[in-house]
Amino acid sequence: MNDSYLNFVNSPFGARLARSLGLPKPEVLRRYRADQPEFDGLIAIGAGREPHLLDALANLVTSIGVTSVAHESAGLWVPLANRHGLMTGRFEPAESGSHGKLTALLFDASGIEDSSQLEPLHGFFHDTLRSLGKCGRIIVLGRPPEACATPRQWTAQRALEGLTRSLGKEARRGITANLVYVEQGAENGIEATLRFFLSPRSAYVSGQVVRIGVRDGADALPAFDWNQALAGRRAVVTGAARGIGASIASVLAAQGAHVIGIDIPSARDALDSTMRQLNGTALAFDIAAPEAPAQIAAALDEQGVDIVVHNAGITKDKTIAKMTDAAWQSVIDINLSAQERIDDALLAAGILRDGGRIVAVSSISGIAGNLGQTNYATSKAGVIGRVQSMAPHLRARGITINAVAPGFIETQMTAKIPLTIREAGRRMNSMSQGGQPVDVAQTIAWLAHPGSAGVSGQIVRVCGQSLIGA
Ligand SMILES: NC(=O)c1ccc[n+]([C@@H]2O[C@H](COP(=O)([O-])OP(=O)(O)OC[C@H]3O[C@@H](n4cnc5c(N)ncnc54)[C@H](O)[C@@H]3O)[C@@H](O)[C@H]2O)c1
Repeated sequence: MNDSYLNFVNSPFGARLARSLGLPKPEVLRRYRADQPEFDGLIAIGAGREPHLLDALANLVTSIGVTSVAHESAGLWVPLANRHGLMTGRFEPAESGSHGKLTALLFDASGIEDSSQLEPLHGFFHDTLRSLGKCGRIIVLGRPPEACATPRQWTAQRALEGLTRSLGKEARRGITANLVYVEQGAENGIEATLRFFLSPRSAYVSGQVVRIGVRDGADALPAFDWNQALAGRRAVVTGAARGIGASIASVLAAQGAHVIGIDIPSARDALDSTMRQLNGTALAFDIAAPEAPAQIAAALDEQGVDIVVHNAGITKDKTIAKMTDAAWQSVIDINLSAQERIDDALLAAGILRDGGRIVAVSSISGIAGNLGQTNYATSKAGVIGRVQSMAPHLRARGITINAVAPGFIETQMTAKIPLTIREAGRRMNSMSQGGQPVDVAQTIAWLAHPGSAGVSGQIVRVCGQSLIGA
């Protein structure tokens, strides 16, 4: 769908008019394109006391081939970078007057154990934020508060959330800010997540807190190529005929997966056409039909599957006093219960292989609730419960389960919303615009990545840091 306001204020005349009238000017977000470098420019590294993640960061910087500068808070970075043969220098605040010198700011706060040690965060972002260019990236790294040894350490690590979310709201200009908590021992498993948060693939993901845990068989990540990370993998995507589902199918296929797209029989033509373009397989099933789990299991049985994306969903909005029993029941059944039945069938028969990935599509309505959406918000909150409750049970099999919670995404579903409510949904976030289906799809591709083995039980909002439910 088209955001005409964003297009207008980014035209030469519209930009002048917006400036003179003081109107907000949403940035045209930089999104991933295969014909443009994914990582470039200069990143500034800062650190608190005794940072534990600098070695892992050095591996990352080497692997993605960017140049780094050390802020004075990260004095340890310079010898480390020299040891790794990385080009580095020191960040000089005095030289930083102009916007746009830096493409990312990374701060290792993992060693902070007390609130009195938080000051280097102020020093680093005070000095560097104005030098961060449009659509730049901010990543703060810490330790999961709940795993901290002392209440003071827990307190200081929890404080990082307030900082990161505020940076996202202050930075604007298409800049994202996210917090990654790395469990002790999970240092080798951070690259896929940091690549995602540094990349234009995460254009509409901001203000999020993600935890990376120790995976079972810590050093046994399967080999993969970063450019074709899903090569040789099979992925099921429900609701794949159009909208977000079609985009998920396309992004997974672009990373090498064979996609099996499922949609209702009445969407067969659109599904066939989407799958044909991707060399995928089309299955016309209603996922809520009683026989669907067995049919899907039978269709996948021979070769099994590595990735299951539960995307199909519907809305039947009415205030609860006016909502029919059928409208309640169909939304719960398609958006939530069908997922449970399908996963049960695939897991019981071992069709979803060990080391597999389940990603479900929730919604910020499931986090915040929404007027006229008691059925929908119930189903989407249930999806969150499913992810959180199943993650520990699937761990021994190396299977991860996560959810994305989209905010306002430009699709046929949101095109149906009345104009004034639609405009509010679009603008009430740090990016002042709606997201695109590809933003949800790229986030799912990160969660489905072989390198995301330590990311499980997480709910990641794809909402441009929406104020709703924040
Ligand atoms: N668009 C948004 O802003 C937004 C926000 C939050 C969450 N979501 C969620 O994202 C997902 C995709 O939404 P969308 O905007 O692309 O919607 P959409 O209506 O454009 O697409 C949904 C797809 O699911 C299919 N589907 C519906 N019922 C099915 C069934 N019983 N069996 C098989 N397929 C079925 C539809 O035919 C359709 O192809 C949904 O779960 C939705 O709740 C969307």
